[in-house]
Amino acid sequence: MITNLRGRDLISDLDFTKEEVETVLDVAWDLKRKRALGEPHPYLRDKVLAMLFFFSSTRTRGSFEAGIAQLGGHGAFIDSKTTQIAHGDTPKEIGEIFGRYFDGLAIRHCDWNAGNAYINGVAEAARCPVLNMQCDIYHPFQCLADLMTIMEKKGRDLRKKRIVVSWAYASSYLKPISVPQSLILQMPRFGMDVTLSYPPEFKLMPDIVEQAQAQARQYGTAFDIVHDMKQGFEDADVVYAKSWGPLLTTADPVEGKRIQDQYKDWITDAAKMAVAKPDAIYMHPLPADRDIEVTSEVMDGPNSVVFDQAENRLHAQKAVMALTMW
Ligand code: CP
Repeated sequence: MITNLRGRDLISDLDFTKEEVETVLDVAWDLKRKRALGEPHPYLRDKVLAMLFFFSSTRTRGSFEAGIAQLGGHGAFIDSKTTQIAHGDTPKEIGEIFGRYFDGLAIRHCDWNAGNAYINGVAEAARCPVLNMQCDIYHPFQCLADLMTIMEKKGRDLRKKRIVVSWAYASSYLKPISVPQSLILQMPRFGMDVTLSYPPEFKLMPDIVEQAQAQARQYGTAFDIVHDMKQGFEDADVVYAKSWGPLLTTADPVEGKRIQDQYKDWITDAAKMAVAKPDAIYMHPLPADRDIEVTSEVMDGPNSVVFDQAENRLHAQKAVMALTMW
């Protein structure tokens, strides 16, 4: 068991080795058990986490804020619009200064071609751990919770289990590509075969796909790309279908919406779930566009694990904070 994670950042999914992720999961399950038993676990008493948001959130804010409090510390919610960032505080200033005030610095910055660079810029200057609460490229804490949930539902040995990471239609807004990118990077390391499914205009970043394919080769798993939603679902053990924007095709939101609106039939419904394995689980990081991205029948149905998945954000994030911020 690798245990020396103190002081480490978590920005990209591959920042932690497979063995380090196994440590995170081990601690997460211990913390989940302790919370279920009402057993106090104040590993971070008097520690303070800054939570700097450039983008809205329900689950990420709620779970980090509850999590640091349950660990005996305090979470400081900071909306970027209320700071002096627009008036000149650069990533270096934020890293240097917040790094001296706080024991951990968590950031959500999803702007395309900006978020990940911003978080890395802060991390270069910060003396405390920097945690990526979602950027334009990765959503590593969502992915840790997803992995934890899949293991709870499908067993710890995921070899020969197949996940389909599928695009789905949404009408609300052009969602980031970070969730599918994190999934295809992390899941091969734990033995899962990956099918990535999307309409041609919704490709992911080529270097991320190449890294994912390299992980699949290293761990002896399958990695396929298809462009048909139902084909992707065939015989899947895990259906992970969500929307993302056509950002590699166009960064223009009007053109992106026009492209997206061509694919309204990419909805997760009972007919498509029927071609997956009978015990396949349905996953979504939420928020979902109900009855547009996924039918309520599927989202509220017996195969859906979306609320267990959302709960595991809390336990996985507490594990990383407890391991890195003491
Ligand atoms: N899944 C997720 O990150 O949810 P929020 O955007 O509500 O934080």
